[in-house]
Amino acid sequence: MKNWSRKDFLKTTILGGAALSVARPRLFGAGSANGNVRIGIVGFNAQGWGHLQNYLPGSKSKLDGAILAAICDVDDAVLARGRDAANKAGLKVAEYKDYRKMLESKEVDAVVLAPPNHQHSIITIAALQAGKDVYVEKPLSHNIWEGRQAVEAARKYSKNIALIGTQNRSSEQIMNAIASLRAGKLGKIKWVTGTCYKPRDSIGLHDGPQQVPAGIDYDLWTGPAPLVPPTRNGPKGVVHYDWHWFWNYGGGDISNQGIHQMDVARWMLGAKGLPKNVMSFGGRFGYRDDAETPNTLVSVMNFDEAPLIFEVRGLGRKKGMRAMDVYRKSSVGVVVQCEHGYINVAENGAAVAYDNDGKKLEAFEGSDNGAHRKNWIKALQSRKVTHGILEEGHYSTSLCHLANISYLAGAEKANAQLADAVASNLATKDAYWRMLDHLKVNEVDLEVTKPIVGPLLQIDAKREMVTHPEKVVADAANNSPIRKREGRGAFKIPQMGSGTVAAS
Ligand SMILES: NC(=O)c1ccc[n+]([C@@H]2O[C@H](COP(=O)([O-])OP(=O)(O)OC[C@H]3O[C@@H](n4cnc5c(N)ncnc54)[C@H](O)[C@@H]3O)[C@@H](O)[C@H]2O)c1
Repeated sequence: MKNWSRKDFLKTTILGGAALSVARPRLFGAGSANGNVRIGIVGFNAQGWGHLQNYLPGSKSKLDGAILAAICDVDDAVLARGRDAANKAGLKVAEYKDYRKMLESKEVDAVVLAPPNHQHSIITIAALQAGKDVYVEKPLSHNIWEGRQAVEAARKYSKNIALIGTQNRSSEQIMNAIASLRAGKLGKIKWVTGTCYKPRDSIGLHDGPQQVPAGIDYDLWTGPAPLVPPTRNGPKGVVHYDWHWFWNYGGGDISNQGIHQMDVARWMLGAKGLPKNVMSFGGRFGYRDDAETPNTLVSVMNFDEAPLIFEVRGLGRKKGMRAMDVYRKSSVGVVVQCEHGYINVAENGAAVAYDNDGKKLEAFEGSDNGAHRKNWIKALQSRKVTHGILEEGHYSTSLCHLANISYLAGAEKANAQLADAVASNLATKDAYWRMLDHLKVNEVDLEVTKPIVGPLLQIDAKREMVTHPEKVVADAANNSPIRKREGRGAFKIPQMGSGTVAAS
């Protein structure tokens, strides 16, 4: 591999900066004539590609009432794919590399945002300021503070629609399961467990900074994050997707797949905001690669209602296997354990109640989570968000962030110390023992590879900050970029509110 020098890096970013000034708006006012909402899509390599199909005439997944008017991506190759798809569907759409230029366009009514996580809050805020309606992919933010600013922006520009893509919020089955829980059919909730067991392979080990492919404006891609060269080059390449495993941009699988189950878990628990305290333990086990985030994580969040346990596993059911463990019916799901039985919610938002012996009691009726994008169109038409309220997305996203903050404030400890730390709580102890079994069959020995054990962080829910008797721990947690990062240069996150949770 070619060694990457600082000179190369500067050259790339300067070239990227030049591209910024040659955004090519070509406006055709695609849908204005027939009353369609005109959609601009920001970031459409993978998830955004599915969104793009929703607005192309003739596509199987076309949504009524809206049409593609503009596309924006910082990667020329992705832009070209979007242009071709639009042209094939008979549309000529405006093209941008810089979302700020797209937001100036009067030919765009609403935007769908599917860039990496670290761009979600800043572009949401900018879009609302520009008078656009917003569908932002999950998670809402890269850090707690910027997520709060996005919520405050939605409040300030309340004439605009702001909706988050946690699609389980559109599952009628979950809503019916919640009604059953609240009616006390299974007795009191004892605890809720969210699982995110997804195969996550090594992304390989590389030597230092990697060359950004020509055609990607890396300064724009980096946005509010610190501008540092990429240090990965796995099967997905140097820039796209694997940012999930680097703290500057993502938050590991808890903030990737996990945010969906975290949102369902918090919703079913009935918890309104942040928990009283949070503790995490885990590690990146089983291989050495470039990535930073844990592939194994157990987090415990204590709410007044009951504890919420969240488990991430990236290793398979056994060493060398890609099939994943199943916990009470699902690998990726939520289990609400009550006195007289439990409810399982599958990845697609299907919900079933069982007794404590595992006998099926009730399969809840209604749609699964497939209706979310239709509900977005309904929100645009009715001017009211009913599924995917931004502040709910903020709280669930913040739980993922708090779990990561405890992990990041942690230290390697002997397994025996971890066993002591979890001994007092039945649900946590159970998750710990199951994690040990899982690691054992993956040939990870915690006596040799020590786990990271995070502190039990007390949470000031009103200020969305961490408190801890030891000042050094509280400071480390609050100064973590996952708690607060203000942005960079032209990509500063605007402060929208006072910083405390508004009385609402
Ligand atoms: N709701 C879901 O079930 C679901 C599923 C998958 C992904 N997602 C979310 O979608 C987002 C994108 O995921 P992905 O897998 O497509 O990632 P990706 O890295 O493959 O694609 C991101 C795209 O955004 C572009 N981009 C980056 N910064 C940009 C900017 N400032 N302006 C315009 N374009 C920019 C990149 O060039 C790339 O084409 C993530 O936040 C992810 O969490 C949601």
